[in-house]
Amino acid sequence: MQTYYIVTMGCQMNENDSEKIAGMLEMEGYTKAANIENTDILVINTCSIRENANNRFFGNLGSFKTIKKEKPDMILAVCGCMMQQEEIVDIIRNKYRYVDIIFGTHNLYKFPQLLNERINGKKPVYEIIKDTSVIHEEIPIKHEYNHKAYVSITFGCDNFCTYCIVPYTRGREKSRTSENILNEVKSLANKGCKEIMLLGQNVNSYGKGLNEDIDFSKLLRRLNEIDGIQRIRFMTSHPKDLSDKMIDAIEECDKVCKNIHLPLQSGSNSILKAMNRKYTKEHYLSLIDKLRDKIPDITISTDIIVGFPSETEEDFMHTLDVVEKVKYDSAFTFIYSPRNGTIAAKMPYEISESTLKDRFDRLIKLQHGIMADLSEKYVGTVQEVLTDGFSKTDKNMLCGRTRSNKLVNFLGNSREGDIVNVLINNATPFHLKGEMLK
Ligand code: 5AD
Ligand code: SF4
Repeated sequence: MQTYYIVTMGCQMNENDSEKIAGMLEMEGYTKAANIENTDILVINTCSIRENANNRFFGNLGSFKTIKKEKPDMILAVCGCMMQQEEIVDIIRNKYRYVDIIFGTHNLYKFPQLLNERINGKKPVYEIIKDTSVIHEEIPIKHEYNHKAYVSITFGCDNFCTYCIVPYTRGREKSRTSENILNEVKSLANKGCKEIMLLGQNVNSYGKGLNEDIDFSKLLRRLNEIDGIQRIRFMTSHPKDLSDKMIDAIEECDKVCKNIHLPLQSGSNSILKAMNRKYTKEHYLSLIDKLRDKIPDITISTDIIVGFPSETEEDFMHTLDVVEKVKYDSAFTFIYSPRNGTIAAKMPYEISESTLKDRFDRLIKLQHGIMADLSEKYVGTVQEVLTDGFSKTDKNMLCGRTRSNKLVNFLGNSREGDIVNVLINNATPFHLKGEMLK
């Protein structure tokens, strides 16, 4: 039997795309290889959000050459966000000729066809489509887990934050119809799925451009009615579009986890303006107040960029101030990385490496202290945990997530997909430990 192996870099959207690639390959009769060395088809799904993602890909391409030398018949396909950038495709065409297939984010659905062209032809197959308004609903999906699944609700992004490459690699924002989403979730529920994670670059603007009376809050309410589904998560929310209606829906829908990912990016109004984020520090903080007024136990996570062009010490202090005030349950912190083709990449840059490092370290230190305090509060409580399987760090323990999205390692005998109660007896900033209650 012919096999495939997929390496996925980047975000959940890419993971969902890889599940579609797996779905299409299984439909063609391929099965998943046990490891990368023994595969007939190797697919690399790339990410271009920051420079280090690009570097990692090119670093890996070297090692894939070795595998390809040992197994010349193996087909090496590269796809994903990086392939939507012409200069990257040019480099691969010229310098990495052992790559058999290149495709992008907009023609994912064509992979089986491109694969057949490569198998039946002598030349590599390269096909990139610029942008499309078509959503391909027919692509089969092979979900990684049975008990939880990603469900994309929008594709692309129209926000054009000045630092971000996504609007260029993923194209214009498009929403799936509510009927297609509801059907997918019902079918998942029928197969035993308990948790869904709704995905979109900006879920709050879901429904824009659709020919139906729908928005994200209505979608949440409809999904909340589906039997079998017990947890609904969603990401990412853009602060500029977080409406009262949506906060009400999060509060009122019992299956919707009281947890929101609300990227701050910066706490400084002048930097937010230069980033084209379309909200101020004050507005952002008022949203946090509103969320906590309505839903006191809501957990909040964020993304923060350090060292955007022209960021001063004073700007950075505003970021620390927001972090201090909000007390995020978790924060993804990034050093600004100029991306070719974005507006910010043309802005003059004068922040030194040492200043960057100093700011980044101070932010991390503050955030880790906050997370340590917040985690500590869980000790002695009983949490509902959806079991994911054995812990990756400690094979004697199981792991799973609370409704608040905290990672828990625990002793017990539950199986993947079981929802159990766990008594928390230990906490670190990043995860909790506990024992399953019988
Ligand atoms: N440099 C650093 N971080 C970035 N992000 C997006 N683009 C860049 C960039 N050029 C971060 C943002 C976004 C997250 C997914 O990645 O914080 O929310
Ligand atoms: Fe990028 Fe901004 Fe769109 Fe998020 S909202 S994907 S940061 S452009």
